[in-house]
Amino acid sequence: MSHAEEAVPATARRSPPLAGVARVPGDKSISHRSMMFGGLASGETRISGLLEGEDVMRTGAAMRAMGANIEKRGAEWVIRGTGNGALLEPEAPLDFGNAGTGSRLTMGLVGAYDMETTFIGDASLSKRPMGRVLNPLREMGVQVLKAAEGDRMPLTLRGPRQTAPITYRVPMASAQVKSAVLLAGLNTPGITTVIEPVMTRDHTEKMLKGFGANLEVETDKDGVRQIRIEGQGSLTGQTIAVPGDPSSAGFPLVAALVVPGSDITIENVLMNPTRTGLLLTLQEMGGNIEVLNRRNAGGEDVADLRVRASELKGVTVPAPRAPSMIDEYPVLAVAASFAEGETLMQGLDELRVKESDRLAATAAGLKVNGVDCTEGKDWLSLRGQPGGKALGGGTVATHLDHRIAMAFLVLGLATEKPVTIDDQAMIATSFPEFMGLMAGLGAEIEVVE
Ligand code: S3P
Repeated sequence: MSHAEEAVPATARRSPPLAGVARVPGDKSISHRSMMFGGLASGETRISGLLEGEDVMRTGAAMRAMGANIEKRGAEWVIRGTGNGALLEPEAPLDFGNAGTGSRLTMGLVGAYDMETTFIGDASLSKRPMGRVLNPLREMGVQVLKAAEGDRMPLTLRGPRQTAPITYRVPMASAQVKSAVLLAGLNTPGITTVIEPVMTRDHTEKMLKGFGANLEVETDKDGVRQIRIEGQGSLTGQTIAVPGDPSSAGFPLVAALVVPGSDITIENVLMNPTRTGLLLTLQEMGGNIEVLNRRNAGGEDVADLRVRASELKGVTVPAPRAPSMIDEYPVLAVAASFAEGETLMQGLDELRVKESDRLAATAAGLKVNGVDCTEGKDWLSLRGQPGGKALGGGTVATHLDHRIAMAFLVLGLATEKPVTIDDQAMIATSFPEFMGLMAGLGAEIEVVE
C-alpha cells in the first residue's frame, strides 16, 4: 500500500490564540533504538512513552522478523530479545516504509551476520542514498548482493562468517552512519572505532552503554570524538522511559510563537544538547520560551517549555549548529517567515537527502505562499513579514515528507490566507497525534477526506 495513492490534503487557517498544555510523543531516535536494542538484548526490556509512529513500528516488525518477541502490555512495550549475536535470518524482505533511521541502523546491525537480509521501502526511502552506510560495511567484509542504482533500496546484504573491525571516520555529520558502524561492531570480534569530527546526536552511544555494551568515548581538544566499541559482549534488557521528541515539539512551539496571543506549555521535552539547536535559535530570534522543571529522566535531561507569542527578528544560523537541529529547518523557516528582517541558514547540505530534498521542498513551499526566499546549494535565506498579512494561499507539495507537511500547516495558522498541503498521510510516520494535539491547543486545521 503506497501513501501516494491515498493522498489526503489538509488546510490550516489563521487561528485564535493557542492555549493549553500538551505532551508530544516519544522521541523518534530513542524509540527506534529502544526497539532495536531491546530486540537484541538478553532478557526483558520495558519501554514507556514509546513513539507509536509508523517508522518505529517498522523497526519493531523487523526485529520481530529476526526473532525478538515484542508486545504491548497496557501502556508499556515489553520486549524479550534474542541476545547479542543471535538474530535469526528473516524469511521475507524487511519493509521499512518511510524510515531512514530504522533501515540504516538495521543495515549495520544485520551486516555483521552470516545471513541474507533484503531491505525495501516506500518511494521516498527508495530514493535515499544508502552508500554512506554500505561503504563502511563493505570495509568490514559485508557483501551487497543486490542494490538499485546508486546503492539504493531495494538491496540485499550478506555478512561474512566474521566481520573485521575497522576504524571509520564518518565523512558527513550523520548519526545514522555513526550508529550503523557501531551496531555492526556489536557482532564483530575486537574493537570497532568510529571517529566523529562533528558531534551528532549521541543516543546510540548512551543507550548501548546503558544496555551493558563495552563502549568508550574520548573527545580531543578540537571536539573530534573517538567512539570505541568492543564486539561480541552481552547486552541486558533495560527499563526505558522515552522523553518527548524535541523535533515534534518544534511544531506546536513555533505555532505558539507565531499565532498572536498564544501561551502554551509543552511538557517533558528531551533537552539533550545534541538536539536543542532549534530552541537556541528561536531564543536568539527573540522567542519567549521558558525552560521549566529541568530534570533528569533515565539518563537524559528533560524540561517543560512555556512558549508565548513573540515578535521575532531574523538571525544567521551558523553551519556548525546544523547537526543539533537538522530536522528542524523547515519549521524554523516558518518561524522566520514572520520575523522582522532576514534569516540566513547555513550548512544545509544534508537536508538534500532527507525524506525529501527538504531544502528544495521548503523553498518551494515558502515561495508558493508568498515568502520572499532564496535557495542556495547548501543555504536558505528569507525575508520575513511580521503579521503575515500578504502570506498564504498556496498548496504545498509534501513529497512524502512528514516534516514538510507539519511545518507548512503551522505556517497557515498565522498567514492571512489559508495554507493547504497536498497530503497529510505521512504525518503518522513520526507524530500520529499531531492533528488532535494541535486542535486541542486551538489550531484550525481541516483534513479534506
Ligand atoms: C537520526 C539522525 C538524523 C536525523 C534523523 C534521525 C537518528 O539523520 O535526520 O531524523 O536517529 O540517528 P542523519 O544521520 O542522516 O543526519
